Amino acid sequence: MNNDTYYVHTFGCQMNERDSETVAGILEQLGLVAADTPEQARVLAVNTCSVREKPEEKVFSLLGQWRMLKRDEPTRIIVVCGCMSQVAGDRIAQRAPYVDIIIGPRNLGHLRDALAQRLESAERKPVIIADSQELLPEGLPAHRCGDMSAFVNITYGCNNFCAYCIVPFARGPEVSRSTPDILAECRDAVAAGYREITLLGQNVNSYGHDLHPQTDFASLLEQVGKLPDLQRLRFTTSHPKDLSERLLQTMANTATVCEHLHLPIQAGGDHVLAQMGRGYTCRHFISLVERTRELIPDISITTDIMVGFPGENRAQFEQTLRAVERIRFDQAFMFKYNDRPGTKASNMPDRIPEDEKQQRLLQLVSLQNRIARDVNRAAVGQIFEVLVEGSDRKAKNCVRGRSRQNKIVVFPGSLDMRGKLVQVRAVEGFLWGHRGELVSRNRS
Ligand code: SAH
Ligand code: SF4
Ligand code: F3S
Repeated sequence: MNNDTYYVHTFGCQMNERDSETVAGILEQLGLVAADTPEQARVLAVNTCSVREKPEEKVFSLLGQWRMLKRDEPTRIIVVCGCMSQVAGDRIAQRAPYVDIIIGPRNLGHLRDALAQRLESAERKPVIIADSQELLPEGLPAHRCGDMSAFVNITYGCNNFCAYCIVPFARGPEVSRSTPDILAECRDAVAAGYREITLLGQNVNSYGHDLHPQTDFASLLEQVGKLPDLQRLRFTTSHPKDLSERLLQTMANTATVCEHLHLPIQAGGDHVLAQMGRGYTCRHFISLVERTRELIPDISITTDIMVGFPGENRAQFEQTLRAVERIRFDQAFMFKYNDRPGTKASNMPDRIPEDEKQQRLLQLVSLQNRIARDVNRAAVGQIFEVLVEGSDRKAKNCVRGRSRQNKIVVFPGSLDMRGKLVQVRAVEGFLWGHRGELVSRNRS
């Protein structure tokens, strides 16, 4: 172990990835440097996710491994950040009393002081700092880790309280960052060499309603999209209930905004959608998809879908299958509903048995996988702009990158293309994306 090193492990969504960059930045401000492995590090930090039970269990299993490391070197410090720290801080302290600091996502402004104290003291009880109402201060340092894309938060928290979801409890009420703060961070990221920016929020479409003067996501997108030297602009996640015509127009008219929209449908039946508190019908969702494709014909649309929500009967599940068949998503993240303590859905009657949920999930996944393959095969012959990320691990002498549609593209090439935008023709379509051939490397 080296006394001046740290290691960060990240579970969960892109917001957690961004928070881990802040954690790394704070640790570096304290003079620590990144270690390659947890064994080498004095400070071990894990950024946790509570969205389902599985990632929570993974955290406890990781902490079990780190406990052994701490037994060998008792001066190690273990920090648990992220959503679990907010919603299950006491549970972590009980199950893993060897942890030093438990700190919620809105409280990272206190991490530096808490750590500095801990590095000096012999205190052994976990310190819990978890206040989801606090505002994350501007100006915290960050060590960006994204290969190609810089993540930039535009809102924190969520006000929607979808019946199944823990996120509003973990991340607190929705707060928008000011447009100048966001623009400044984006400018810094571009100056640091990032060609692509991904704007993050649980519901980016509600950006700005709480600012004075009020603004909206479309105007933010337009302003960020115009930054000199920025090549690609992405954002996630869009809530269908707040997706406006104005936003679609702005996407269509802003050259840097990529042709990709992640629009979680969650379910295809209106009764289930209402029980979830999603605020739209399946018909409305389909009309949004149709309008999006009308305005931006080469857009890829991806989604999140859940099966086995309490009370969802077979016929309602089949409505989800029909919606998926009709919409033809480019890709979907599919989940079995999982009870989260304290959410509205966890008290709803008519639970769906686990094996039924599993069977529904398999059926949905097999349908969606067929569609994704078909969509990617149908694109064979088309030319895509690819931002090259590096060499492909499997295919020899090949590099990989992402198209503007956010599909993985693998093609013969060399590492000097890394970070460049090239034109690639798709020659084969797979579930995961395309195999292609280089057409030109005219843009750098
Ligand atoms: N803000 C995003 C979702 C963030 S959580 C939105 O509104 O779409 C990411 C995904 O996890 C959700 O879209 C949902 O499909 C899934 N999810 C959330 N809570 C869940 C739960 N209790 N059980 C199973 N899946 C869940
Ligand atoms: Fe969760 Fe709904 Fe908020 Fe998304 S919009 S984070 S699903 S409560
Ligand atoms: Fe993200 Fe998981 Fe929290 S999905 S917002 S890290 S609960």
